[in-house]
Amino acid sequence: MKVSSHAVARMLGHWREGPGPAHQRLSDRLRLLILDGRLSLGAALPSERDLATALHTSRTTVGASFRTLVGQGYLTTRSRTRATVRLPGDFAPEQPVRADADTIDLSFAAPAAPVEVLHAAFAAALEGLPRHFERHGYDRSGTAELREAVARWYQRRGLPTRPDHILITNGAQHALALLAGVLLSPRDRVLIEHPTYPHAITTFIRARARILPVAVTSCGWDTEQLQAAGQAANLAYLIPDFHNPTGMCMPTSVRRRLRIACPVIVDETMTDLALDVPSPEPFALHMPTAISIGSVSKSVWGGLRIGWIRAVPPLLERVERARPATDLGTPVVEQLATAVLLNEHRTRRPDTLQQLRSQRDSLGQALTEHLPGVDVVKPTGGVTLWATFPRPISSRLAAVAPDHGVAIAAGPRFGVGGAFERNIRLPYTLPPGQLATAVRRLARAEQALAHGATGTHAPAPIA
Ligand SMILES: Cc1ncc(COP(=O)(O)O)c(C=O)c1O
Repeated sequence: MKVSSHAVARMLGHWREGPGPAHQRLSDRLRLLILDGRLSLGAALPSERDLATALHTSRTTVGASFRTLVGQGYLTTRSRTRATVRLPGDFAPEQPVRADADTIDLSFAAPAAPVEVLHAAFAAALEGLPRHFERHGYDRSGTAELREAVARWYQRRGLPTRPDHILITNGAQHALALLAGVLLSPRDRVLIEHPTYPHAITTFIRARARILPVAVTSCGWDTEQLQAAGQAANLAYLIPDFHNPTGMCMPTSVRRRLRIACPVIVDETMTDLALDVPSPEPFALHMPTAISIGSVSKSVWGGLRIGWIRAVPPLLERVERARPATDLGTPVVEQLATAVLLNEHRTRRPDTLQQLRSQRDSLGQALTEHLPGVDVVKPTGGVTLWATFPRPISSRLAAVAPDHGVAIAAGPRFGVGGAFERNIRLPYTLPPGQLATAVRRLARAEQALAHGATGTHAPAPIA
């Protein structure tokens, strides 16, 4: 697939921001786009001349950045053909992020499993399992037990829901991919919050949709801008409950006012992680047409791989019909265990919430102490905070940080057009001592960067 110079320029956005020579910044940004899947494997890039014109830079700069990427294995070139996107080896980055077992991984925003709670849920699930042995075990919409449990979870939160409003998926990301598959056509426009969850952006780009970003700032959501963008969009994707990455929660007043003309997917993956505020009401209470997706990945454990879609039955039937192209159903034991967890109200555990509060506060204190120039808005829930540096160093800091024993997710991965070079996302899902050590290491990495260090680490995988 050929990618035009204008499309690449749009994806690159403000690529010039940051320290170091221009060709290096350009190759860093292109590499990030490749590793995030926004420039897909096999995509043919524009010629050096066309890209230089679109970027208002010299052909030498573009040529040098292409040569770097060829050397690193991210591009192949042959005479008279366009440079083509590839990955080095079998996705072997120059230096794997986890080369050192001592590296503290802040790229995954997910808590460890609550061991006893999970043991008990699986023990109960195994008792119920034989009831399923008489059938083939393939179920595209999920087991009756779990659909009923999810419906009850919504009902308890004030939103009338029947089991036939629920389709069980392998996590919220799977739910999103299934919905994108049935709701989007190439060139459709998708409204996203900016920043947003990176794998959602990749999902929409893979569906060949165009992204319509609407800023979410430290002041929150702008109702008018969302509504205006909704007029031009075919689909909207919002994370109103403890938004990833900022941790902010959309106020009830905004939910009540908001009218979006296109279909809206609301990702309520973080709903059960309210730390300082009451649990938010289901978004669909105020927007009954909203398609909700949820998951127990953050409230219990990502390894369960259980999520769901709440929508009207005709839409769920479309998803069910499309589903076999990617998978034939969700494992039964995990579904039964999740039904137990939901029925016993284990997705909102006071001890876990208290632990998250204290980890969040430790992370905040460590940032104040070791990185005093960094600005943070304290999140009221979820598992991440969004740190803002005084200078646009995010991608380069992420590339250097593993040399100092910490892996982080750079800000531009949470946006489009090269935005958020001043930001990084920091999860508070590790014990306070490890978070403090991680911040000290990050401060050392920032110092090294200021003294001219350059990193070679590929962006870490994130969740
Ligand atoms: C907002 C959001 N949606 C979806 C997901 C993916 O969730 P799951 O693990 O259930 O697929 C995540 C994981 O980080 C997330 O933060």
